[in-house]
Amino acid sequence: MQAEINEHRLLERIDAFARIGGTPAGGVNRQALSQEDRQARGLLARLARARGFRVFQDPMANLFVRREGRFSSLPPFVIGSHLDSQPTGGRFDGALGVLAAFEVMESLEDAGIETDLPLEVVAWTNEEGSRFAPGAMGSSAFALGHIPPEWTDVRARNGAHLTEELKLTLDALADTEARPLGIGISAYLELHIEQGPTLEREGVPIGIVHGIQGTRWLEVVLTGQAAHAGTTPLAFRRDPMVAAAAALDRLYKSVMQKDERVRFTVGRFVLEPGSVNAIPETVTFTIDLRHPETAVLDALEEIIAAEIEEERVASGCTSSIRRLSEMEPASFSDTLLTCLDRAAEHLGLTTIRMLSGAFHDALFINRKAPSAMIFVPCRDGLSHNEAEYVEPGHCVAGARMLLASTLEATRQAP
Ligand code: GLV
Ligand code: MN
Ligand code: MN
Repeated sequence: MQAEINEHRLLERIDAFARIGGTPAGGVNRQALSQEDRQARGLLARLARARGFRVFQDPMANLFVRREGRFSSLPPFVIGSHLDSQPTGGRFDGALGVLAAFEVMESLEDAGIETDLPLEVVAWTNEEGSRFAPGAMGSSAFALGHIPPEWTDVRARNGAHLTEELKLTLDALADTEARPLGIGISAYLELHIEQGPTLEREGVPIGIVHGIQGTRWLEVVLTGQAAHAGTTPLAFRRDPMVAAAAALDRLYKSVMQKDERVRFTVGRFVLEPGSVNAIPETVTFTIDLRHPETAVLDALEEIIAAEIEEERVASGCTSSIRRLSEMEPASFSDTLLTCLDRAAEHLGLTTIRMLSGAFHDALFINRKAPSAMIFVPCRDGLSHNEAEYVEPGHCVAGARMLLASTLEATRQAP
C-alpha cells in the first residue's frame, strides 16, 4: 500500500490548532510558553499517543513524536517546525510544518510502511522570539547541546521569567518521556510558508530552499535628560529622540537603497518616561538587519554604530548598542536538496530554488545535521499578520512533498 496524505485530516487539524489562541480577526496569538502554546503542545501529544507513537520532551521543551524504523538504533530523520506564534500571527507560520509532518507520520502508519530510519516529528520551542528573545531558542539550544547560561535572565516585557515559564510548560506534559538536549539526528527537513511574495508572483507551488540569509538583532539605547517640554530652550536640551530620529532618517534613506538585498527594520521603539510634555530621558529601539553575506552584515553594523555615534555626540547624549541575536547565513545540504528535486519530479510539481528571507529553526539544525526546507506560497506574501492565508491545495502539495522526500531520505540506511 502506498502512503497518501489525507487532505481532509490535514486541513481539519490546521483549523483545530488555529482555534488555540485564535483571534477574532482569524489569526492566532499563541506566543511561546504561554497557556495557549501549552495547549497546542498538549493536543499534539494527545494525537500522537492516540496513534501509539512515543512522545519526548527535552529540557528546552522541544517536543518530539517518534515512530520507530527498521534500524531503530540509527539517529532519527526529523521533520517539523514550531507551534508558537507572533502576538498577531497567522495560523500557518510554523503550525503548517508541524501538522504536515505529523500527517506524514500518520500516513506512513496508515499504509503500514516501515522506514529504514526512525522518524520523528518535532515542534521546536520559541521560534518567534516575540515574547522571549532571541528567537529559535529551542532549535539553537538543541544545536548547541546546552541552554546558554545568559538565558536564565531572559524576561518577557510583562516581566514573565523564561525559566519559570519553561518549567510550567515542561510540567504541563510531565507524562512524556524526558530526553537530553541535542540528541544525534540523521537529517532535518522543514516545511514552511514562504512569508514573502516570490512563489505567488511566479505561480509556482513549491520552493526548494537552498539556504537562509543572516540576521542580526540590535538594541540601541540613547540616554539624554528628561526636562520640561515647554520651558527648556534648545541649548539646554539633551534630547535622545533628536539623535534617534536623525540617525534613523539617514539609515532609512541609505542602507536598503544601496543594496537591494539588505533588510533594515525598526520594529520596537520605546520612549521613557513617555510623557507628552517631557523631553524623553531614554529612547530604546531595536534593529532587525538581514543579508545573505556575513561580511555585509558586519559592515552594516559598523555603519549603524557610526551614524548613532555621530548623532549621540551632536545631541549630548550617551548611547549603547547591544546585540540581541546573531544568526549566520545557512547553506543547506546538497543531498537533501537532491531528494527534494526527486520528490517534486515524482509528484509532477513545479519548483524553484530560493533563499529564505526569514530565519527558521532549520538554520540552527543545519549546524548539527544536514537540513533543508520546502516553501509553499502564501497570499500576497503576507505573514506575521492575522490575515496570513495559504490555499488548501498548497498546504496539501507541501505535505505531499514532505512525504515523498521523507520516503526518499529515510531509505538511505545501510
Ligand atoms: C522569523 O520569524 C523571522 O523573523 O525571520
Ligand atoms: Mn515560522
Ligand atoms: Mn514567524
